[in-house]
Amino acid sequence: MDDNPSRTVDISKHATILTGDRPTGPLHLGHFVGSLQNRVALQEVARQFVMIADIQALTDYYDRPEKVRESVYEVACDYLAVGIDPQKTTIFIQSMIHEIAELTMLYLNLVTVNRLRRNPTVKTEIEQKGFGEQVTAGFLMYPVSQAADITVVRATLVPVGEDQLPMIEQTNEIVRSFNRTYHTSILCEAEALIPRCARLPGLDGKAKMSKSLGNAIYLSDSADEIAKKVKLMYTDPQHIHVNDPGKVEGNVVFTYLDIFDTRTAEVEELKAHYRRGGLGDMVLKRRLIDVLEALLAPIRERRLQYAQDRAYIRNMLLQGTERTQEVAARTMHDVRSAIHLDY
Ligand code: TRP
Repeated sequence: MDDNPSRTVDISKHATILTGDRPTGPLHLGHFVGSLQNRVALQEVARQFVMIADIQALTDYYDRPEKVRESVYEVACDYLAVGIDPQKTTIFIQSMIHEIAELTMLYLNLVTVNRLRRNPTVKTEIEQKGFGEQVTAGFLMYPVSQAADITVVRATLVPVGEDQLPMIEQTNEIVRSFNRTYHTSILCEAEALIPRCARLPGLDGKAKMSKSLGNAIYLSDSADEIAKKVKLMYTDPQHIHVNDPGKVEGNVVFTYLDIFDTRTAEVEELKAHYRRGGLGDMVLKRRLIDVLEALLAPIRERRLQYAQDRAYIRNMLLQGTERTQEVAARTMHDVRSAIHLDY
């Protein structure tokens, strides 16, 4: 894709990166491929904030606050286990940055309700979750809150999946409207950074691995769980007998081998053999189980260590949040003076 922004953006020490996750459960392999790996690399070259979006999680899970609370810890453990380093990346809790709530209120005046209703990602989510006309105001306006997340640290780069592009667009509309309306230039526009890596399909072959679709392998899954899940993986439904020729395209086991198995020449040979016939699914699946286990075993081990030290995780989060509070206070100061709220 030629319009892939990741090819053109300049990631330098001058960039400020913000990205985040909704804490609604532990993170899975799709997160690893699509965002976590990138964050581990980006923390070496730019100033990076990673936000645990508990307020945004509540727009959907408002009646399950305990789940959100527990997931904040789960997600934090996942971050550290994959190598996000709290010395290099500022990890913070969204709800503890009060300026985000304050900015959201101020930004809401700059966005029409019709504009919010037109956001394609929100529209799809409203359909998927069956909200219909009962959609809450909080859910409908979460892109505005996301604009506050991004601008409160004056992020210039936002690494996100393609489905988040409408949020970045919305953010930049708000930024331009704010600067125009209040005759200022204190807010800066942000650019999306879309990962180069293909999106990881779910175990069932659906386009996306997701918790709500129940087709995910979690970073915290045991070796047994991984093996069980891979054995259930979607292959080629026409490939019934070992000697039947099989299809490689759309065969999730091959998609995963392409992404995770570094012995590419061998994988190509397996593809040719599978197409000819005579190669059973179980041979491939065993190989994939080994590849995934080699990747996930050390992550799982580190994760377990962190999960046992809740005080450490809490402290780490509070320290990151404190650093973010300083940045947020400065932004808020500027915003308040631009709107003549600096009494
Ligand atoms: N909406 C994002 C998601 O569901 C999470 C998120 C919240 C986020 N605030 C953000 C991502 C700010 C990037 C920047 O994945």
